[in-house]
Amino acid sequence: MKNVVITGASRGIGFETTKLFLSDPTINVIAISRNIAPLQALAKEETVGNRLTCVAMDITNEDYSSLEIALEPFDTIDILINNAGLLINKSFKELTKSDWQQTFNVNLFGVSQLIQHLLPKLEKTAKAHIVNIGSMGGFQGSSKFNGLSAYSASKAALACFSECLASELIEFDIACNCLCLGAVNTEMLQTAFPGYKAPLNSNEMAAFLVDFSQNGHRFFNGRVLPVALGNPG
Ligand SMILES: NC(=O)c1ccc[n+]([C@@H]2O[C@H](COP(=O)([O-])OP(=O)(O)OC[C@H]3O[C@@H](n4cnc5c(N)ncnc54)[C@H](OP(=O)(O)O)[C@@H]3O)[C@@H](O)[C@H]2O)c1
Repeated sequence: MKNVVITGASRGIGFETTKLFLSDPTINVIAISRNIAPLQALAKEETVGNRLTCVAMDITNEDYSSLEIALEPFDTIDILINNAGLLINKSFKELTKSDWQQTFNVNLFGVSQLIQHLLPKLEKTAKAHIVNIGSMGGFQGSSKFNGLSAYSASKAALACFSECLASELIEFDIACNCLCLGAVNTEMLQTAFPGYKAPLNSNEMAAFLVDFSQNGHRFFNGRVLPVALGNPG
């Protein structure tokens, strides 16, 4: 069995990715978000059996006790997908210090905190893979859009962090890559670009993530990869 941890699993891309992983009977999923009601409903489906562990947790919170308890049955983690994200759409003039702090707390500090926490179980796996979900907004040289400066800056930081981390984790045989997603139809996209229809739905991006997280580290490590069809999506 493979053990997969994914954050931001309650809706959008994370929810569809969790669902798709669970269609493979050789995979256990430990799914994290603050609201776990949609995941609890998923857990009741017969085909899921007891392979879904739902953890109600804010990744920015320093109390990881609920996650520790949930992870007790699992000695190793094969894949960690840091998918949880926060986007505040405000002009630079309007952004408050708290907006900046919240954005970086979720999109960067929460990610690094969770990785540090999970490292002992990732180290025990032969070739574990950390996939950080970035954004085209944070991809160097990409088009930039008004209202997204804090979000895009946080995703750019996540991209650089992923490159640095990959280098430090080579000795533990853990790969780390950052995928810079283009537009996908989710609640977050509507916050960023109200009324915009993206060329991709969450289930389509989920199919890519399920495949990349299991196979991409045979070909890539320390890479910041654009996963986008156009501009913004
Ligand atoms: N959709 C796009 O077009 C697009 C484009 C580029 C990049 N991305 C990236 O793709 C990822 C998924 O995006 P999405 O569009 O699916 O977003 P979404 O629909 O807004 O979902 C975000 C998920 O993150 C979780 N989350 C947020 N803050 C959290 C926290 N503090 N602790 C734990 N979980 C938290 C939310 O769950 P709770 O509220 O239940 O905690 C939710 O499950 C994000 O990293 C986003 O930046 C998306």
